[in-house]
Amino acid sequence: MPVATMSPKAGQTATLQFDGKVTTLPVVVGSEGETAIDIEKLRGQTGMITLDPGYGNTGSCKSRITFIDGEKGILRYRGYTIEELAQKSSFLEVAWLLIHGELPTSAELENLESEVTRHTMLHEDFGRFFSALPKDAHPMPVCAAAIGALATFYQYPETEQNIRDTVVRLIAKMPTIAAYSYKHSIGQPFVYPLNKLGYASNFLHMMFATPCEPYEVDPILARTVDLLLVLHADHEQNCSTSTVRMVGSSRANLFASISAGISALWGPLHGGANQQVIEMLERIAAEEGSAEKFLAKAKDKNDTARLMGFGHRVYKSYDPRAAILKKACADVIQRVGGVSRLLEIAMKLEEIALKDDYFVSRKLYPNVDFYSGVIYKALGIPVNMFTVMFTLGRLPGWIAQWLEMRQDPDFRIARPRQVYTGATDRRYVPIAARVELTAPPEGGVR
Ligand code: ACO
Repeated sequence: MPVATMSPKAGQTATLQFDGKVTTLPVVVGSEGETAIDIEKLRGQTGMITLDPGYGNTGSCKSRITFIDGEKGILRYRGYTIEELAQKSSFLEVAWLLIHGELPTSAELENLESEVTRHTMLHEDFGRFFSALPKDAHPMPVCAAAIGALATFYQYPETEQNIRDTVVRLIAKMPTIAAYSYKHSIGQPFVYPLNKLGYASNFLHMMFATPCEPYEVDPILARTVDLLLVLHADHEQNCSTSTVRMVGSSRANLFASISAGISALWGPLHGGANQQVIEMLERIAAEEGSAEKFLAKAKDKNDTARLMGFGHRVYKSYDPRAAILKKACADVIQRVGGVSRLLEIAMKLEEIALKDDYFVSRKLYPNVDFYSGVIYKALGIPVNMFTVMFTLGRLPGWIAQWLEMRQDPDFRIARPRQVYTGATDRRYVPIAARVELTAPPEGGVR
């Protein structure tokens, strides 16, 4: 297995020259040749810090889990290409790979499947948790709260065995929580997990079965859900994963860290984009608006519209997950029908955008969310559950990253610094002498 050199290559350093002083900084080289200037000692040596809003140039950790080459459109989990894993592996196999570093043997996979199956049920008292929430609650905060609440049912000391049990419980209970959050929102009774079903089939059963009549899970649709989960399983140090690491770095437990990750994923610029994509496609379809008209709005700097599902902080070429999903989209629609109009609009938007100088010059290509929403829609997954589907998939990645951080000998609490730009030392103003401002103060809010 190729491993990172992880130590500065002999002789390779970077030099920083400032205020007449020269500082030499080590250069770290990863196993795929990525180079980074190690600034761990920068402040101690120079009194300066680095400033990188949005962390676009900052490596927050060394990791062996996922490799992305955004320029070439490459994504690999533990060295295996996403294309091969998508074609040959199940989601639980990929979860094991991410968490343990190697593909499981058949015995290991069987054991994981059996353990996960045995932990899918929620404590009966959890029913009261759901009923305390408003009926129209968005399932993402419901899931974040439910995962946080799981910590109250398993308040064990953090031993290796207990962490292992938590990992299994999280993977096992997440689909149940997700499906219950949906059932709660539509006022239907919860459907208990069925041990004879596989991971994705069980989820679909809990989502769509009712106690009134038998429900058969279509194996092709279950395989599509499994594929979607594989494609979302990890994506190195994205916003939600960094959140999981950040929260876990205070030694907060795994439930609390994952709950924070779910909250981060909810945002429309991250996992929430899949919901925004379908809403955008539906708006274009409803208004009989042309793809060209919408793209003009997305390019207009005076308009807040963006082409949702396009662009990515890391990918500056076609997101390989989007390419796999585009093909799966056509297959699912052929199987179940419906939503073909939305797929047509999406493909038209893509076709025009990829020839348009605005998108070409900014290297904006479809990301994973561009086609995933159309598939979810075809599968009958309600729109406000789209980001929950992303959560189900991303869970093993978050777990693997959290475990890697905790096992890292260089592990420290994450605590970035800042460049302070506010008022300098000033005299306190007594309340009687204060004047109401007519406009917000510079950098302030009203
Ligand atoms: N539509 C129109 N213009 C866009 C889009 C878009 N989808 N994405 C980026 N741009 C433009 C920006 O306006 C900016 O233009 P400028 O240089 O003239 O100011 C330029 O492209 C660079 O964009 P930034 O926002 O600076 O890029 P950043 O890396 O910060 O953001 C992001 C990446 C958030 C994904 C952005 O491309 C976006 O908002 N896309 C739409 C939302 C989306 O699909 N999110 C899902 C991301 S994938 C995921 O999280 C799973």
